[in-house]
Amino acid sequence: MKRELIIAIDGPSGSGKSTLSRRLATALDYTNIDTGAMYRSVGLAAYRAGIDPGEDGALSALCAGLTIDFLRKDGEERVLLNGEDVSEAIRTPEMSLMASRVSANAAVRKAMLGLQRALGEQGGVILEGRDIGTVVFPGAEVKFFLKASPRERGRRRCQELREKGLDISLEQTIEEVERRDSADTNRLHAPLLRAEDAVVIDTTAMTIDQVLQRMLSVVAERRQQIGSTSVRKELES
Ligand code: DC
Repeated sequence: MKRELIIAIDGPSGSGKSTLSRRLATALDYTNIDTGAMYRSVGLAAYRAGIDPGEDGALSALCAGLTIDFLRKDGEERVLLNGEDVSEAIRTPEMSLMASRVSANAAVRKAMLGLQRALGEQGGVILEGRDIGTVVFPGAEVKFFLKASPRERGRRRCQELREKGLDISLEQTIEEVERRDSADTNRLHAPLLRAEDAVVIDTTAMTIDQVLQRMLSVVAERRQQIGSTSVRKELES
């Protein structure tokens, strides 16, 4: 049987990646892999161990000794770091920053790349992150790059944090989102970059359902293209 697709979703924070990849995964009955959660878990482990994101050797050893697993519990995605549920602990503003800092480290990226490829290679998956369409799965059948204005991304992030009870200002959140995106975009290893063949969707003024419909139609189109190519190949052989 033909394997199912690999779908890559990249973009800056607050562009809608997490929400859309979950919705798309449900609609297609695919597995959703939040690669940001993996970098956040490494950030949390480094923070707890007192390792500075600049310490290459210590970070490399840390990655070699940890396990990151995804689990569905009561309809929710949970992240396990060495068996411990860290789903909430990795979502604080401090861990956003820590994740961004450890993610610039080559040894950390190498370790995560191996895990992500192992998780996705069977297909039937959506991976969301910063370098999925460019580095992790450059051959992914469908690639999306989501974007939105900095103000809108800051507004979404601020709302998310306030819902968790954090007392945070909109201006401060916009500033933090912009600072983190600039670090993710300007780093040396696997920076945030749009793949040339990615479908770009500006979600600034779109509802979640509108974006989802657009993504579903791209996936349907791509499936048709792939289907007709393989039929042609079979006829030619
Ligand atoms: O998507 P997120 O905000 O949870 O990601 C947290 C950080 O992890 C982000 O600032 C950059 C990094 N990251 C990355 O470098 N590559 C990925 N594929 C995913 C996330």
